[in-house]
Amino acid sequence: MKIIIAIDGYSSCGKSTLAREIAAQMHYAFIDTGAMYRAITLYLLRQNVSIKNTDEVKEALKNITLHFESHPETKSSDIFLNGENVSRYIRDLIVADKVSEVAAIKEVRQFAVAQQQEMGKRRGMVMDGRDIGTVVFPDAELKIFMTADPEIRVKRRFQEMYATNPDVTLDEVRHNLELRDYIDSNREEGPLRKAEDARVLDNSDMTREEQLKLALQWIAEVREAK
Ligand code: DC
Repeated sequence: MKIIIAIDGYSSCGKSTLAREIAAQMHYAFIDTGAMYRAITLYLLRQNVSIKNTDEVKEALKNITLHFESHPETKSSDIFLNGENVSRYIRDLIVADKVSEVAAIKEVRQFAVAQQQEMGKRRGMVMDGRDIGTVVFPDAELKIFMTADPEIRVKRRFQEMYATNPDVTLDEVRHNLELRDYIDSNREEGPLRKAEDARVLDNSDMTREEQLKLALQWIAEVREAK
């Protein structure tokens, strides 16, 4: 039986890494919903759309088409904005600085959530984000809420960003993560929170292999219970 696995949690907890590994093991599709909000943000920045002007944002959404292409052999996927592969631009700090503000806009969330629900109709899906277990798939068979020590998350994200931008500082990354977690947790629409029936995975002291093993054990449990 194909199930839906919803993974939510704070920024830079390694949600996408885990989701990608689960998807590869189970031959499931993987959708990184944060990439969708980032691609929308990139579009608004490029078009100089004022994020504070909801009407302008609503108009702009009409011109945005997003799609994913996955590459199972490298356990990776790319996101396309109006046919352009924008995967490498959406991780830039200028996008990271604005994405939480954009993701808090009701119309943006409705636009993204509708597409995510459509993609999930096929089931056999691992989706990671902030509101997957609470809003997008409240009936997901397995919900995982990921968390990790804040300073560990800062170091992880710094290392990731440093690879492409050696000018980035630890303080910049820390400030960005704290601000995003705050905005994501306190917005009105689909705030980041643990679904009541989610299982908590704190990976501060876990290796990638250990967290994958635990998640696969949970998957086996929920499938057996069905
Ligand atoms: O997972 P990420 O860091 O790539 O997400 C980027 C931003 O998008 C994050 O600050 C919160 C927002 N987001 C959201 O609001 N809802 C989701 N389902 C996924 C991401």
